[in-house]
Amino acid sequence: MCSKRPKIQQHSPDTIVILDFGGQYAHLIARKVREQNVYSEILPCSVTAQEIEEMMRRLDVKGLIFSGGPMSVYRHNAPEFDIKILSLPTPILGICYGHQLIAHMVGGRVVQGERGEYGVTFVTVDNPNRLLRGLEKVERVWMSHTDTVYKLPEDYEVLAHSDSTPVAAFRHRTKHIYGLQWHPEVVHTDKGVAVLRNFIFDICGCEPNWVVEDLLEKMIEEVQRTVGESKAIVALSGGVDSSVAAAIASRAIGKRLTAVFIDHGFMRDGEPEAVKAIFEKFDMNFIILNERERFLTRLRGVTDPEEKRRVIGEEFVKSFERVAQHIGAEYLVQGTIYPDRIESGFKKYSEKIKTHHNVAGFPSTSLFKAIIEPLRDLYKDEVRQIAGRIGLPREVYTRQPFPGPGLAVRIMGEVTSEKLDILRKADRIVDEEFKKWGLQGLWQHFVVLTDTRSTGVKGDARIYGYTLAIRAVESTDGMTANFAKLPYDLLEKASLRLANEIQQVCRVVYDITHKPPATIEWE
Ligand code: XMP
Repeated sequence: MCSKRPKIQQHSPDTIVILDFGGQYAHLIARKVREQNVYSEILPCSVTAQEIEEMMRRLDVKGLIFSGGPMSVYRHNAPEFDIKILSLPTPILGICYGHQLIAHMVGGRVVQGERGEYGVTFVTVDNPNRLLRGLEKVERVWMSHTDTVYKLPEDYEVLAHSDSTPVAAFRHRTKHIYGLQWHPEVVHTDKGVAVLRNFIFDICGCEPNWVVEDLLEKMIEEVQRTVGESKAIVALSGGVDSSVAAAIASRAIGKRLTAVFIDHGFMRDGEPEAVKAIFEKFDMNFIILNERERFLTRLRGVTDPEEKRRVIGEEFVKSFERVAQHIGAEYLVQGTIYPDRIESGFKKYSEKIKTHHNVAGFPSTSLFKAIIEPLRDLYKDEVRQIAGRIGLPREVYTRQPFPGPGLAVRIMGEVTSEKLDILRKADRIVDEEFKKWGLQGLWQHFVVLTDTRSTGVKGDARIYGYTLAIRAVESTDGMTANFAKLPYDLLEKASLRLANEIQQVCRVVYDITHKPPATIEWE
């Protein structure tokens, strides 16, 4: 039944491919695999067996993992997989929805929504077979499911059960097909990493032969090869991704690269100067384009957040294209990273929350012979590792994320120069106070100028002033976040300074909402 393994054209690391069934876990699984020094890629669940075989010519695919997902196998339009995948020679592990779906598609009995389990629970290991080797008889695991597998066909056997789930783990008796109802990729599962390691190393036979730094020389070569003797351009925002992309391209083609920093006027205090100071030292051309007036004029009267993002994105592209044409650059280098590509590409089962202007629709590809994305397969923390390697200063790669449209999406309602001045001052004060406190592990801290005015007293006089909101969150990837439980003394100091040092402000609030339901930025 097994098709022959296709030949790989060049040396490539051992790879685990994750089929994404739409849950929030596919990325987490991919990262957990990479933490074991094994390369991983995510594919949409609609991928065919033939497409996987084609991929095997490029990558040494040693195993497949089917991720969890929000659906029931009985829901109309519930995602399925190409059944021929089960006949590939590659071992397969289904997790949660992946586990239920394999059982369902091979003729097992899956029951909808009777007795699900949510959160930490205990499973009994009936057969500590290869996948579950090293586990105790009773294991603490994390589950989140409503559908439950009750029965398997003859050629499958149960490896573990829980009080509510008769089939909490299974395997095929002769082929390398496995299912796990619990999530080995989340920290709440005690021996989750051990189970993933059993699958990756023992069952799939992977070697831990991938480290992110190995990619650096390849990325430099790719830019050299593609650009040849022509010129390229890169949009530099000063954020980690575009900075690393610019540094790689600079190593590759030196002065034939022009980095363009478009100053749309929504940057924080001193930002254009700071970016200039860093990149002036690099071997490339560097241009700052002052477009403050144009952006502000275009945003006049615009209050809808999505419209704001759209206008800024559109204007950004126009400015950038003008420079590219002027310079005669034929290639565009972009700092697109792996999650950006996935979000904007094939995530059929996920919702669009907001338009990230540096991802969506940028730029018009017709201008360039090719777009080069050296970081396209990397996660943020991997990009940070590369940043250190390529000689970018620590302050660049430890920076907190900052949205492409900048302070414009931290000003509720219309953006005006008065509001920008207020917010820039406020941002500097909040940043200074947080830095003094030296808090570790915050994903972001910033301040928002709300659209709410309120009554206050300043120097015995009544004022009807602005309300600022401080936002500080903890997160590992920005997809979910918790508001930070900050010391009151820090909040008090920041609040006092904001209201005292900024004339138009008379009220400060602290945002105590997690994501979800809120997003991190207010717009
Ligand atoms: P939200 O607000 O969607 O933000 O919870 C998640 C993370 O993304 C950052 N963010 C952006 N980053 N361009 C970016 O490069 C954008 O347009 C953008 N909008 C939000 C945000 O700061 C947070 O870290």
